[in-house]
Amino acid sequence: MPDIFEITHRDSAGRIGRLTTPHGVVETPTIMPVINPNIQTIPVKEMQDFGAQILITNSYIIYRKPELKRRAIEEGVHALLGFDGPVMTDSGSFQLSVYGEVEVDNAEIIGFQHAIGTDIGVPLDIPTSPAEDHTLAAQELAITNERLMEALELNKDSGMLLAAPVQGGNHTDLREQAGRELGSAGFDIYPIGAVVPLMESYRYAELVDVIVSAKKGLPSSVPVHLFGAGHPMVFALAAALGCDLFDSAAYALYAKDDRYLTAEGTYHIHDLKYLPCSCPICSRHTAAGIVASPDKTELLARHNLYATFAEMRLVKQAIHDGNLWELVERRARTHPRMLDGLKRAVTHADWIEQFDPSTKSTFFYCGPESTYRPEVMRFGSRLERLELTGTVLIRPGGRLKNESEYDNVLHFKPPFGAYPVELKETYPLNAEVPMVPDHESLTNALLNTKKLMQLNPSAEFSFVYRKSWDHPLVEEICQMASHSWSV
Ligand code: GUN
Ligand code: ZN
Repeated sequence: MPDIFEITHRDSAGRIGRLTTPHGVVETPTIMPVINPNIQTIPVKEMQDFGAQILITNSYIIYRKPELKRRAIEEGVHALLGFDGPVMTDSGSFQLSVYGEVEVDNAEIIGFQHAIGTDIGVPLDIPTSPAEDHTLAAQELAITNERLMEALELNKDSGMLLAAPVQGGNHTDLREQAGRELGSAGFDIYPIGAVVPLMESYRYAELVDVIVSAKKGLPSSVPVHLFGAGHPMVFALAAALGCDLFDSAAYALYAKDDRYLTAEGTYHIHDLKYLPCSCPICSRHTAAGIVASPDKTELLARHNLYATFAEMRLVKQAIHDGNLWELVERRARTHPRMLDGLKRAVTHADWIEQFDPSTKSTFFYCGPESTYRPEVMRFGSRLERLELTGTVLIRPGGRLKNESEYDNVLHFKPPFGAYPVELKETYPLNAEVPMVPDHESLTNALLNTKKLMQLNPSAEFSFVYRKSWDHPLVEEICQMASHSWSV
């Protein structure tokens, strides 16, 4: 069978891919609007106009309601929704996690998803709460995985793609183990489950650990869905960690609460005097006009969906251009807890680094967190490769008159450190950096320089530094060097 997922572009651990389903190909990363077959704020037939390539609905909601169930079995889920593109169906697990039980078992809901002609089906997994202790989380994971394996057996020869939710609660060892076990069993799509409670309470650092641990267990070539992630604020970060599919009930749920989504955070429509968006809704209405409109909820849902797809396109463009990490750093400014998420993500720089193309567009230094970017870590880990003998000049900025007298001339550039001047136009050393380095950046560059000097004890170093660098490592390096002076 040909691969259903083909990766065409990479950046950080993110990618642009093509996912082939029975009802057509979708380009990832993408967001699947959640369709509620009982109440739909925006007509399904308009979804493609917003940019939707694939929809997600809940097979359990259809199953439970006799009229919907009959029509879905007779006409198929595509006709029921009025959409002939790919449709994913969830299983009722979410209801299970909210109400504690559902009136269907795993085999039955898989059989129902076959019967209604779903493109991507989901077994009845157990969404383990982030609060669950290790013992209980492991027990629930065992049940989930048993059901997934049962579903895999039932799904043989059906033509339906099968999703295998990766659970394990907040226990990274369980998430990784689940990823490894399921990844080797050969499912089609891997949702990372039970992360909604983390996102609802802004626990982005834990979200990062959960995503990275699940991804570490899974093969890197499989499509990954972040279950329940619909706020545009998290798209850049989650995509940079290798999530390919997202689903949004948020566009409608937030609208019902009078909330206006942007990639930079959420507003209450009553608090907005101006609309910071040019979508068709925001171009034709004022904030006060939306508040006063009898169609307030629908107008908000429409704006929310436009804002959601706009951010996803921006993420894709960033992957294409090779500057997704810069977008992640910008989005991390939208909420202090997103900054925690970014800081946690850079602790996984060594993992991200293995997927990150080693040459791409110019590195932009966006603030202290850029010091810990994968490219900078990679530079630091390769210092051993630079063998120096004879005299070595390390200097910031411009050429010195007598440079040719040295056997080696190294350019000093925060946040990297010292490297041969011949490399200064190559990625990532051609980075755009501020004229005045911040403390993190200078610290890293000085630490790398010290390490380089220690690695080459027989070389004779001359170290030139700027007077403005107020840093204790400058003094230390001057003492290690044969000559040092400031400019
Ligand atoms: N929707 C949001 N989270 C989950 C999850 O963990 N499992 C399933 N099946 N659906 C979800
Ligand atoms: Zn708008």
